[in-house]
Amino acid sequence: MNSPHPNPMRSLLFVPGDSEKKLAKADGIAADVLIFDLEDAVVPERKAAARGLVREYLAARPDHRRQQLWVRINPLDHAEAGADLGAVMPMRPDGIVLPKTRSPEDVEVLGQRIGHYEGEYDMQVGSTRILPVATETPQSLFTLGEYARCRKRLAGITWGAEDLAAAVGATANRYADGSWTPPYRMVRSLCLFAAHAAGVEAIDTLWANFRDPAGLEVSCAEARRDGFSGKLAIHPDQVEVINRCFKPSSEEIERARRIVELFEANPGAGTLALDGSMLDLPHLRQAQRILALAAAD
Ligand code: COA
Ligand code: MG
Repeated sequence: MNSPHPNPMRSLLFVPGDSEKKLAKADGIAADVLIFDLEDAVVPERKAAARGLVREYLAARPDHRRQQLWVRINPLDHAEAGADLGAVMPMRPDGIVLPKTRSPEDVEVLGQRIGHYEGEYDMQVGSTRILPVATETPQSLFTLGEYARCRKRLAGITWGAEDLAAAVGATANRYADGSWTPPYRMVRSLCLFAAHAAGVEAIDTLWANFRDPAGLEVSCAEARRDGFSGKLAIHPDQVEVINRCFKPSSEEIERARRIVELFEANPGAGTLALDGSMLDLPHLRQAQRILALAAAD
């Protein structure tokens, strides 16, 4: 990760685009990002209605300072994708979530299409970000290391296990306790390293059981431990847990401060000792990142 986004992206809540009730509810939810879904949460007969509702919602919320407003469009090779972009781009969403991304080329193609709308509607070209769901097809796994090539618009990389499991005919992708089976643990790790290789945020996939806050909490703690900086959510109750788990604790902030001060007090030192353990430059970078995250809130 080079520089964390000035606005944090800890919790990203999906809101089905065809549900007036959930759209109305979304206003009061403290998610860092709302993702209005036009894809899998919406049945084909409701796609057009959903586009209209999301467009209206974006038009009524021109000020995005409190939270970012994103839209998940249909996959790029799907007939609905063009209509989705046509409906929402004039309303200046902060970003587009691209499902079933097959390769970085899909992100580049989407970027060009978005760019035309930005030009047409007087927006800064390049200002609309993209978050690909980058692991939903088997082929997508084999170009995960190449996302740096489209990093200009890339806000992060996230992953999904459901479509991938369906694509390979898996009978399950989790154990009974909710933890991932080995193929999906690997995909999670690939997403983590793909994001960091591209210098963008790694966003963990969702915890499906929204009535299981304890399981969600463990999943968030593991994600944060491993280097993810946020997590997708599907239910309002998940947002508070995610925000709390991805925020550096006061102990972490305090220790990060001491590490940064120690290096500042010892210019030219590449390695130092603190509380009986060795510190070198990766520790300094990690401490700086924690302080940046703490300052972003
Ligand atoms: N966004 C906004 N509001 C939501 C919401 C969401 N994602 N999920 C639930 N709510 C609202 C409900 O409408 C309900 O409102 P009310 O108190 O005014 O009745 C309240 O939060 C509590 O919801 P609850 O009854 O616990 O859940 P539910 O049975 O209504 O909904 C889901 C469960 C899973 C269907 C729902 O959470 C959902 O639609 N999630 C998003 C699904 C999605 O977008 N999937 C695509 C990405 S994988
Ligand atoms: Mg899906």
